Amino acid sequence: MKKPKISIAGCGFVGLVNAAAFASRGYEVIATTINKEEADIINQGKTPFYEKGLDNLLAKAIKLNNLKVIEDNQQAVQNSDITFISVGTPMNEDKSIDLSYIEKVSEEIGNGLADKEEYHLIVDRSTIVPGTTRNIIGKSIEKMSGKNPGTDFGLCMQPEFLAEGRAVEDTFFPDRIIIGEFDEKSGDILYELYEDFYKKHLENCPILRMTLESAELVKYGNNCLLATKVSFANEFANIAELVENVDINQVMEGVGLDYRLNSKFLRAGAGFGGSCFPKDVNAIKSWAENDGYYPKILNAVLEINKDQAYHMIEIANELIDSFNNKTITILGLSFKPDTSDMREAPSVKIINKLLTEGVNKIKTYDPKAFHEAREIFEDKIAYCESIEEALKGSDCCFLVTEWDEFKNLKPSDFQKNMKDPNLIDGRRIYNFNEFSKNLNFRAIGRKALKK
Ligand SMILES: NC(=O)c1ccc[n+]([C@@H]2O[C@H](COP(=O)([O-])OP(=O)(O)OC[C@H]3O[C@@H](n4cnc5c(N)ncnc54)[C@H](O)[C@@H]3O)[C@@H](O)[C@H]2O)c1
Repeated sequence: MKKPKISIAGCGFVGLVNAAAFASRGYEVIATTINKEEADIINQGKTPFYEKGLDNLLAKAIKLNNLKVIEDNQQAVQNSDITFISVGTPMNEDKSIDLSYIEKVSEEIGNGLADKEEYHLIVDRSTIVPGTTRNIIGKSIEKMSGKNPGTDFGLCMQPEFLAEGRAVEDTFFPDRIIIGEFDEKSGDILYELYEDFYKKHLENCPILRMTLESAELVKYGNNCLLATKVSFANEFANIAELVENVDINQVMEGVGLDYRLNSKFLRAGAGFGGSCFPKDVNAIKSWAENDGYYPKILNAVLEINKDQAYHMIEIANELIDSFNNKTITILGLSFKPDTSDMREAPSVKIINKLLTEGVNKIKTYDPKAFHEAREIFEDKIAYCESIEEALKGSDCCFLVTEWDEFKNLKPSDFQKNMKDPNLIDGRRIYNFNEFSKNLNFRAIGRKALKK
């Protein structure tokens, strides 16, 4: 099979990882972005954000001369056979989905198709509420191009399941591929592309074909269920804290061994964040409410998550009465390890709250997210170059993100550097008994030991 030429609209986590993956396997890829600086950085073979393994993959793609980033979707469409849409679908102020990037890119793709003779397939990878592929993307392309879906162009919706921090691995080894299709021809073309791209991996990776709208809703089903598991673990952590000698880690380990469940995402902590869970749960909840259905579980999931990051401050208050004039350390800023993404990160909620409590100084350390943190907090907080520097002279430390390098810290690291060794483990990475013996220590999901 002759490899189709690919264009990808959007160079964020989804677009860039997919673009580099296709290019590294010999496909010619044109990616587009509305951000010129982003385009220049990528064309030089550098990544505009940190994602584990992406720098090597991108370097390979650029070396093969298979990837070019431009700012013109019309040109990208005219010079490719398949266009993937991976633009952002952020939250509006009222927490519903903002489809303005989808609307804009669909018009641009439609304009690109207007002068094209050949059949073209458009595949949405952005997370969008049911009906969007058919009624917004499809209709807009039809209007701008004067062409007909099914005959002149094909339309698919393939939800993206990659997780930040392991986006490259997830892209090369997905656990399933969902193809929502406007018609059989559209689905067949995408299916053939993945047969060629994944080859033997498809033996372990089912491809499910369905309607466009079902595929759109699969993505929300996934993220909402994962977010529900996190909020469930956090609700049980709050219950565990009512009782002496109950440890949420032990409880969830026991629960997760049930053959009908698994232990993933059953870890209590500072709550979920990131660019997907908060916005996707809110988006589908708003969408359902607008249509007259009140989703009870989703509302509870969000309600629990709203307070979870602040709960770290509540339990810190049991160790130190007031934050007034105190020096506070935050270990970990990104919403999870192995990524620099700080969108909706619990660290942002915690820092913003502490800034209203009269603290003397907030010293932070994160292995990768400083650039993102500076954009948010500018000079309101200090950015340290090592864990030691962040702990020096501190009155209280919040462990917010479980980067590997924090896991090896010993109680003595906190004792020797901090003015007063108060530590709150928001991710349950430290041995509770050992740390409780040596420090003023509290952890999510475990009542303090009597001293
Ligand atoms: N980040 C994730 O882990 C993840 C996982 C699964 C699904 N998703 C979904 O994928 C989509 C993209 O997410 P992301 O995190 O990669 O987004 P992002 O915000 O990191 O990047 C969006 C990109 O779209 C580009 N863009 C906007 N309008 C454009 C246009 N008209 N033409 C070309 N480029 C345009 C921006 O320049 C940027 O490069 C969202 O719907 C998201 O919900 C994200």
